[in-house]
Amino acid sequence: MQTTVVKVDENCIKSGDMTEAGRIIREGGLVAFPTETVYGLGGDALNPGASRKIYAAKGRPSDNPLIVHIYRMEDLYRIAEDVSDSAVKLAGKFWPGPLTMIFKKKDAVPAETTGGLDTVAVRMPSNKIAAEFIRAAGGFIAAPSANLSGRPSPTEASHVVEDMTGRIDMIIDGGPSVIGLESTIVDMTEPVPMILRPGYVTGKMVRETVGDVSYDPAVFGEVNEGMRPKAPGMKYRHYAPKGELTIIKGDRDAVIRYMKDALDKGLKEGHRVGIIATEETRDNYGNATLLMNMGARDDEDEIARHLYAVLRRCDEEDIDLIYSEDFSTPRIGQAIMNRLIKAAGHSLVEV
Ligand code: TXA
Ligand code: MG
Repeated sequence: MQTTVVKVDENCIKSGDMTEAGRIIREGGLVAFPTETVYGLGGDALNPGASRKIYAAKGRPSDNPLIVHIYRMEDLYRIAEDVSDSAVKLAGKFWPGPLTMIFKKKDAVPAETTGGLDTVAVRMPSNKIAAEFIRAAGGFIAAPSANLSGRPSPTEASHVVEDMTGRIDMIIDGGPSVIGLESTIVDMTEPVPMILRPGYVTGKMVRETVGDVSYDPAVFGEVNEGMRPKAPGMKYRHYAPKGELTIIKGDRDAVIRYMKDALDKGLKEGHRVGIIATEETRDNYGNATLLMNMGARDDEDEIARHLYAVLRRCDEEDIDLIYSEDFSTPRIGQAIMNRLIKAAGHSLVEV
């Protein structure tokens, strides 16, 4: 399959490009598109054949449901049942934006899109290209992150090109994602809205909007036999680079000491060693095979934005041992660490 890449400027969207992308979707094809969180791999959410194609293109198990993306509030009522006052409040505050809500689904949504569940995840992205694309495509776009299953989510079109060339019809290049982490998922079918996946919209922000919030226990810990996450996708070892990643947590000087020792030892043993550090600490690791700077420690947004590109760089440079500082920053640290700990397969050393 030929994959066309089209560059689109968010401030000057050409209607011809959107018409073409919309035509592909209406004919059952697949188009990757930018959102403020990560790039999505879009197909017509109401077309079971398109959803099947999405699973095939990603190499993703088909019991893992897709998020349906909309561009206007009224369309929510065509696919979701029992939309509560709390949901309307959350939508009012965070849509369009990096929040996904789960509702009981209406029959219009095929089982293929929801992985056989009777619920549907819905999000209204704020990226203007995404909104125009969804509109041109008929209003309902099923889209997982546009990476091959198991790889880090794409935050630049080049990541999508890497994973999806030859597998989908079109890639819309809208520049780098401004947030860089997938949306917060809140299950609105629970008595108290329940966070299934942390993201840029924090639990505190949800609580402040609707009065209360709960968490799926799987958000905090290693997923084992007794604990099945409510978001099926959270059970997979996600976001993972090919090298062995370890996170070092603790007092700053102790972390630096540990990482320097581990780096020297790794190099001596002939490994290609990657170090994930910050503006403040990077100078300690000048001898690393690949030294990656996540940004200034107090700029959480910058750290979040860099995470996936950094994990991909490790693969590009064939890094086989990776040591990362901990990024439990105050606001979105929970979301950053949720992804990083998964990428590390829960390998975390406290010093
Ligand atoms: O920011 C995002 O959410 C990005 C962009 C493209 O919008 N999309 C994204 O999709 O991250 P994906 O497929 O990579 O992750 C969706 C997650 C999976 O963990 C899936 O199991 C969960 O949402 N999910 C989807 N529908 C669900 C449902 N009905 N009930 C529970 N979990 C659901
Ligand atoms: Mg994903």
